[in-house]
Amino acid sequence: MKFFIDTANLDQIREAHKLGVLDGVTTNPSLMAKEHIRGEEACNRHYVEICRMVGGDVSAEVIATDFEGMIREGEALAALDPHIVVKLPCTADGIRAVRWFADRGVRTNCTLVFSVGQALLAAKAGATYVSPFVGRLDDISEDGVGLVAHIVRVYRTYGFKTQVLAASIRHTHHIIQCLDAGADVVTCPLQAILGLLKHPLTESGLAQFLADHARVNQE
Ligand code: E4P
Repeated sequence: MKFFIDTANLDQIREAHKLGVLDGVTTNPSLMAKEHIRGEEACNRHYVEICRMVGGDVSAEVIATDFEGMIREGEALAALDPHIVVKLPCTADGIRAVRWFADRGVRTNCTLVFSVGQALLAAKAGATYVSPFVGRLDDISEDGVGLVAHIVRVYRTYGFKTQVLAASIRHTHHIIQCLDAGADVVTCPLQAILGLLKHPLTESGLAQFLADHARVNQE
């Protein structure tokens, strides 16, 4: 199971990386905009910095929506660093681009996936990762974790190699639910990752240990 952080914020990536459990990073144009990164050159520098910091897979998304544009942008992104995974939307042109890159050994992440049918096309086209959006489905009263489980089932039944990357994770419990559903990767905000550490018995147990140690050592 792989653990990615879902942000373009360098401080948050650094903090998660320091834990020693981070396998990669996912970004998207909204996350890049949140960091006020403008223009192609600045974006490229930012991607390279993330790659150097993490040394794991870093998804970088194309902006173009037409096949030729996706190929042009995807090739430029892939050339930045061997850790870059080209992120492409699950549209007809996106699926064509996934196939084009797969045929040339370039790794891809097929994003904005909201159905098993879309995930099937991504796998048939040879995507390295498929990203079902858990939180956004929950937002419209659909079952995001259920979709992850359904995709995992179909991929295992037919032996697809595409890894299921659970995205749009909103909280710590989503992470556990996606693990139960058999996701290969979960990409999470920093707060959801840190939430995994929290347990009142760990906190009260540690406080008791320290108090007992202090009491005896002050005698
Ligand atoms: C990651 O690959 C996705 O772009 C991201 O998880 C979307 O998350 P959101 O639904 O919280 O914007």
